Amino acid sequence: MFHKSLLFSLLLVILSACKPGQKNAAPALTIDPYQYTINKKVIAENGAVVSAHPLASKAGVLILRSGGNAVDAAIATQLALAVVYPNAGNLGGGGFMVAHLQDGKTLALDYREMAPGAAHRDMYLHANGEADTDKSQLGHLSSGVPGTVAGLFASHQYARLPFAQLIQPAIDLAEKGFIITASEARSLNYLQGDLKKYNTVPPVFVKKSPWKEGDTLIQKDLAATLKRIQKKGAAGFYEGETARLIVEEMKRGTGLITAADLKNYTAKYRPPHAFDYKGYKIVGMPMPSSGGLLLHQMMKMIEDRNIGAMGFHSLQAIQLMTEVERRAFADRAEYMGDGDFYKVPVAMLSNDVYLQNRMRNYDPAKATPSSIIKPGELLRAESEETTHLSVIDKEGNAVAVTTTLNNSYGSRTVVGGAGFFLNDEMDDFSIKPGVPNMYGAVGGEANAIKPGKRMLSSMTPTLVLKNGKPYIVVGTPGGTTIPTQVFQTLVNMLEFNMSTEEAVYKPKFHHQWLPDEVMTEKGFPPAVKEAMQKMGYSFSKERGGIGRTECIRVLPDGRFEAVADNRGDDAAEGF
Ligand code: GLY
Repeated sequence: MFHKSLLFSLLLVILSACKPGQKNAAPALTIDPYQYTINKKVIAENGAVVSAHPLASKAGVLILRSGGNAVDAAIATQLALAVVYPNAGNLGGGGFMVAHLQDGKTLALDYREMAPGAAHRDMYLHANGEADTDKSQLGHLSSGVPGTVAGLFASHQYARLPFAQLIQPAIDLAEKGFIITASEARSLNYLQGDLKKYNTVPPVFVKKSPWKEGDTLIQKDLAATLKRIQKKGAAGFYEGETARLIVEEMKRGTGLITAADLKNYTAKYRPPHAFDYKGYKIVGMPMPSSGGLLLHQMMKMIEDRNIGAMGFHSLQAIQLMTEVERRAFADRAEYMGDGDFYKVPVAMLSNDVYLQNRMRNYDPAKATPSSIIKPGELLRAESEETTHLSVIDKEGNAVAVTTTLNNSYGSRTVVGGAGFFLNDEMDDFSIKPGVPNMYGAVGGEANAIKPGKRMLSSMTPTLVLKNGKPYIVVGTPGGTTIPTQVFQTLVNMLEFNMSTEEAVYKPKFHHQWLPDEVMTEKGFPPAVKEAMQKMGYSFSKERGGIGRTECIRVLPDGRFEAVADNRGDDAAEGF
C-alpha cells in the first residue's frame, strides 16, 4: 500500500501509436490521484466533462487535451469511473450512449446487460409462487451478462485516439491507487457486511478497520483486467482469462453466466428516440431504455399548458408535472420492454392525440388516483445507483452516457481475481407481474425475463439540439427517478429560464404511478406539499437527494457551461 507521504503525480504515458493522419498526441499530462479538488462548475472554451468523480472528469479532460474528441473522452471517463467510482462506474454492468457528432449524425448505442441463456421467466419465484427479490437484487444470480466493455469498443469507431491510450488513466488509477473521499469511505464501510456475504473470494474493498477519508485504494486485480482489455481489446474481457474468471465466479456462486453468454454479447446501435419540443430537438435513448419515450411523453403532455407562466415550484406547475409523470409511468409498466423481444407501441405511445387523451381526466384541482389511471388505451393502429457523464468538445461532438450496475455496487459480488463488481440488473426485469422491483416499479409481459433479452431501463442520457447543434447535454442516475429528473431539469432550463446551476441544484420530486405517492427531496416547498395533500396527494418520506444530474449547456458565445450536481462528489472539468 502506498503511504500518503509517497505522493507522486500519476504520469500518463501518451502512447505513440496514433491513428494515421492524426497529429501526435500532446506532451505527457498528469493527474494527481492523491491530491485533487472537486470543481462544481467550469466555463470552458475547448471541451468539458462532468461526471460523478473528479478523477474521472480529469481523465476525460486529459484525453481531450491530448487531441481526443468527446467520444474519446467519454470512453476514458467511463473507464476511470470503473476504478474510482465502483458504486456505479463499471466493467461488470452496462449502459447507454447518446451522441451527436460533428457531421450532424446522432447515435444511440445500447450496451445494456442481457439475461443469460439459462435465464427463465420464473427464475426468481419460490415454489409457492412468491417472488424472491433477494435473489434478483444480490449475489451471483442477480447478474445479467455485462455490456460495458462491448459498448466502449462499439463507440470507439467514432473516437480518434487508440483505445490503449484511453484506458491508460484507468490502469494507472487502479494500479497506483487514489485517495478516497469521505463519502466513498462511508459507502465502503456501509458495504462491508454484504461484501462478506456475497463474495467467494474476499475483494480488496473488505477492510478490518473502517475506511476513512484520505485512505488509498489500490486495485491490482482490476488493473490486470484493464491491461488484458488494453492488450486484447473486447476479447480481453469476453474471452480468455477474464471470461474464465467470470465463469469460475459464477460456478462458485451458482450464477448463470456462461462462456457462451459472454462470447455472444454484442452492443447495438439503434435509431435514437428523438422529438421536437418548441423548436428544440431532444434526442434520447430508445428501448430497452424507457427513458427517451417517457421524457417524450412527459414533455408533450405539458407542451401546450404554458407551464413557464405558472412559475417554478408553484403549486400548479408541480401538480401538473406530477400528473404527467404518473401517466407516463403507467404506460411504462404495461407496454415497455426490450423491443427486440416485445413489440413496444412506441409510435402510438408518443402520438400527440394519444397524449392529449391521456390528459383528458387531468384535474388541476385534485389528484387523479393511480387506481383510475390505467395504462393508456392505445388508439387502434398500433441504485438506484447508476452514473451519468456529459461530454462536449469544440468540434461539435456531444456525448451523454448513463451507465450502471443497478444497485450501488451492483450484486455486491466482485469477480474473484478480476477485481470488478458484477451488476444486479436482472432485478430490472419484471420478475413477476405486479411485483415491484427495487425502485418500486412494476411491469408485466413486456418486461418478462427471456434468455438474451435486455431488461427495461429508465436511463435517460439526453441531448437537446438547437438549430441542429448541441445545446444541452444532460442525464442522471436514480433508477426510476431518472426520467423525471431529466424532465424537471429540462423544464427548469427551457420553461423557467433557470441558470444551469439552478436547474440542477433546485430540489426535485418524483411520481411513478405506483406506488401512488409523491417523493420529494429536502427543500421541496412545504406550502405546496400541504396544498397538494389537501388535493388528495400522498407523500412518501422525504429523501436526502434525488439524482445526481450532470449538465453541460452551450452559452450564446459558444463556450461550455459545465455543472456537476452538488448532491455528491460530482465534478466538472474543462479547458
Ligand atoms: N438500473 C437502473 C435502470 O437501468 O434504470
